[in-house]
Amino acid sequence: MINVAILGYGTVGAGVYKVLDMNRETIARRVGEELYVKYVLDLRDFPGDPAQEVLTHNYNDILTDSDVMIVVETMGGLNPAYKFTKLALEAGKSVCTSNKELVAEKGLELRDIAKANHVNYLFEASCGGGIPIIHALDNALTADEIDAVTGILNGTTNYILTQMAEENEEFSEALKGAQKKGYAELHPEADIEGWDACRKIAILSSLAYGKYVSYKDVFTEGIKDIDTVDIAYAKSMGFKIKLLASSRRTEEGAWLMVAPKLVDGKNMLYHVNGVLNAVYVHGNALGDCILYGSGAGSLPTASAVAGDVISAARNHGRPIPSDWSDDALPLIPIDDVRNVFFVRFAGTADEAEAAFGKIEKVMIPEAEGEFGFFTTEMTEKEFRDAAEKSGKVIKAIRRA
Ligand code: HSE
Repeated sequence: MINVAILGYGTVGAGVYKVLDMNRETIARRVGEELYVKYVLDLRDFPGDPAQEVLTHNYNDILTDSDVMIVVETMGGLNPAYKFTKLALEAGKSVCTSNKELVAEKGLELRDIAKANHVNYLFEASCGGGIPIIHALDNALTADEIDAVTGILNGTTNYILTQMAEENEEFSEALKGAQKKGYAELHPEADIEGWDACRKIAILSSLAYGKYVSYKDVFTEGIKDIDTVDIAYAKSMGFKIKLLASSRRTEEGAWLMVAPKLVDGKNMLYHVNGVLNAVYVHGNALGDCILYGSGAGSLPTASAVAGDVISAARNHGRPIPSDWSDDALPLIPIDDVRNVFFVRFAGTADEAEAAFGKIEKVMIPEAEGEFGFFTTEMTEKEFRDAAEKSGKVIKAIRRA
């Protein structure tokens, strides 16, 4: 019997409890022993819920119980998750987590502590919900030189953008729907400002390129300024707006960016709707690869955490190798990154051309007193300078 403790009985923690119970026999067969949830830690009580019988409010009960081999950290946030994780690893317990904030901030340190204590710190659920992208990068794709990772990595924002485009919902209404379905973070600013996707692309890029990228170095724009007029422009031209988290590695250096982008139907990410996520990876031997699936929600995320629990049980006393070094990935300044921009403009065509060169106007009935156009490919700095020169740019959205 392998004993497990779950820290935090929220959306994901309760999902892990459910998956371990629902698939008990299959999991036991795959591990070779039965898994038993000996403790659930939470500040709250859950009368009537089976977890109440194993509930504790005191972390020391778990820490000092040498029978607990694996700790599931589904508390979210940095504190006390960081302290609890560190203590568990130092006590010789493996930790499996969905906490992307903690992985992005302290993942390297925690993985080193795990290694030193001959246990594992596993975080499959930190990126892409139920999609096994971290296992793919750490295992199946390790023979490749990877030079691009681009994903729809946040289920909440993809759900919001889909509801706005397909159901004509307002932003706030769509956000409420995502919250109700258990997709959004406790503080949904993390989703809509792009911070959640930013942390995820930093984690994935670190693993893909084998060098450390801090999430603080990721250029990040969220979707809170996307309005129904943007969506109408996109639709009229055959595009969808998607929050893309992208990174590229080139000879000159790498760059990372999270931003809403216009995606056309030839791009497979165009077809990724609702809470679904997808990650595109390009490798020099592999070529193109896309992993697609449920990006948020209780059971999909719990599936990834529970898969890690099984890995931790199978690899007890044996840290699983991973290519995540603390050497920094050399980055190029974001100002030098090239993009094509769709511009909403409140001046005349002459004024637009004086700043941006030849343009073709796009006009839609939903947008009065303005028109849109695509720029040629230009650097971020060139775009900013041209926009400033014209003084008439309402907003710009990059094209994928
Ligand atoms: N709030 C996150 C999302 C949860 O919407 O993708 C999964 O990480």
